[in-house]
Amino acid sequence: MNLVLMGLPGAGKGTQAEKIVEKYEIPHISTGDMFRAAMKEGTELGLKAKSYMDKGELVPDEVTIGIVRERLSKDDCKKGFLLDGFPRTVAQAEALESIMSDLGKKIDYVINIDVDKDLLLERLTGRRICKSCGSTYHLVFNPPKVAGKCDRCGGELYQRADDNAETVQNRLDVNLKQAKPLLDFYGEKGYLKNIDGTQEINKVFEDIDQLLGKLAD
Ligand code: AP5
Repeated sequence: MNLVLMGLPGAGKGTQAEKIVEKYEIPHISTGDMFRAAMKEGTELGLKAKSYMDKGELVPDEVTIGIVRERLSKDDCKKGFLLDGFPRTVAQAEALESIMSDLGKKIDYVINIDVDKDLLLERLTGRRICKSCGSTYHLVFNPPKVAGKCDRCGGELYQRADDNAETVQNRLDVNLKQAKPLLDFYGEKGYLKNIDGTQEINKVFEDIDQLLGKLAD
């Protein structure tokens, strides 16, 4: 299954992606995670991405499209993939159509996790991530069993640099502006499936799972 996961920052893309890839055994391709890994390694791509991400802005399309094309061409994507955080602009969506056509594939669903802006601020500022395995928690909505430690691997939890209140506000504004034309683009193509992301984490997954069950049958 070839899937795209959409939603504003904090909608729960990362949280649901962990569950989808575990159940359906497809690779999780998050452009945000790819940029953060490149930043950690100090590569040229990482330095370029950092200057945008620190301000909550989008990394330019030509940089982002190139890394996605390369990643989707790898062998592990043959049985399907889950794209998270890409596309974020209509230009990226058009590029994805052309990548799919070059690879002889098509997108099955674009899953949009729908959440109001007010809730997102609270979710993002309370988010904590495991340094070792990348699992996502929330101080109130999804706390770890032992404070500061990952339930899965015992790793140390940290707050993302772009999750401070000031950057979050700009990230939300930038993404809100981009989201509407993108949703229209996929709505017209008939790929779009909206999921109510204000529900409890496991209930959101149940709804997604029900949708994906139809593809797996
Ligand atoms: P990226 O890493 O993609 O971040 P984002 O879109 O800002 O989304 P987040 O990861 O912040 O949120 P999420 O929806 O995954 O929420 P989560 O599951 O963690 O991008 C970062 C930056 O990289 C961008 O700003 C941009 O600069 C750059 N970039 C990336 N892709 C790009 C592209 N294609 N083009 C250009 N630039 C690009 O959940 C949030 C919190 O809420 C967690 O704490 C979680 O525990 C909690 N939570 C989740 N679901 C629920 C629920 N149902 N109820 C209660 N709490 C919940």
